[in-house]
Amino acid sequence: MQIIRTVSDLVTLVSRSLDNGKSIGLVPTMGALHEGHLSLVDRAVKENDVTIVSVFVNPTQFNNPTDLATYPRKEEDDFRLLAAAGASAVFAPSVEEMYPEGTASDHVFDLGTAAEVMEGKFRPGHFQGVAQVVSRLFRLCRPTRAYFGEKDFQQIAVIRNMVASEKIDVQIVAVPIRRADDGLALSSRNALLTPEQRKVAPEIHAALAYSVDYAREHSVRATHDTVVERINAIPHMEVEYFEIVDGRTLLPVEEWSESPDIVGCITVYCGKVRLIDNIRYRPHLTKKC
Ligand code: PAF
Repeated sequence: MQIIRTVSDLVTLVSRSLDNGKSIGLVPTMGALHEGHLSLVDRAVKENDVTIVSVFVNPTQFNNPTDLATYPRKEEDDFRLLAAAGASAVFAPSVEEMYPEGTASDHVFDLGTAAEVMEGKFRPGHFQGVAQVVSRLFRLCRPTRAYFGEKDFQQIAVIRNMVASEKIDVQIVAVPIRRADDGLALSSRNALLTPEQRKVAPEIHAALAYSVDYAREHSVRATHDTVVERINAIPHMEVEYFEIVDGRTLLPVEEWSESPDIVGCITVYCGKVRLIDNIRYRPHLTKKC
């Protein structure tokens, strides 16, 4: 596996690959890799001739300096895991290499209304930062396909909008959430949980999974409230938002009959660690109330 630190070495690899008619799969990450990331790499390796994984903690998508400072970094472990997973190259640039003209940008991406709700409300500027780095990676790597985890359900919708508005020719592949045996969605942030917090964190998925059954006999509002009440009753846990939305527009729904595609998206503070997860109510919901 090639370890690439500079844009010029990356462009050389990409040009050589495309000149030889090879397809490129890109897996953008912020490192501290876990099985969830590796499932994206695995899929990219299977579907493309060349797989490039970027490892870059992107400062422009953090609206909280402490969050950026404490974000886990494990570069050596990451490189070892990626080599074992069969990645062709890892692109791990410095901030200066990624943003030679500085991190500030005048360009405002058109990300649609999907970027204004949920994370957009609670993390102002976050998705502009994501679009800034992902569009730059797309322009440098010119991937045939790019892989993103469904844990970040809203991020995928926003990236699809960015690709459309910026007219970038790439197929966005959404890969299902990977969970620990106790149900906790795998996330780099899980490493920041204390043992006590780690013990209760699976309650997020437990509450969501329970609510899928509950929803068969209850309204959207009651389903929403039961999830929030159950999680907030647990020590160390506080729901920041839980929204039951149309999976296509990400706008809130009031009735189960409003859309064939309904997803519950949640963010919970477990102590100081911000965890996100989601669950699909429809099409899985078979009986409507
Ligand atoms: O999902 C992430 O880890 C990041 O938002 C991404 C897509 C790598 C951009 O920095």
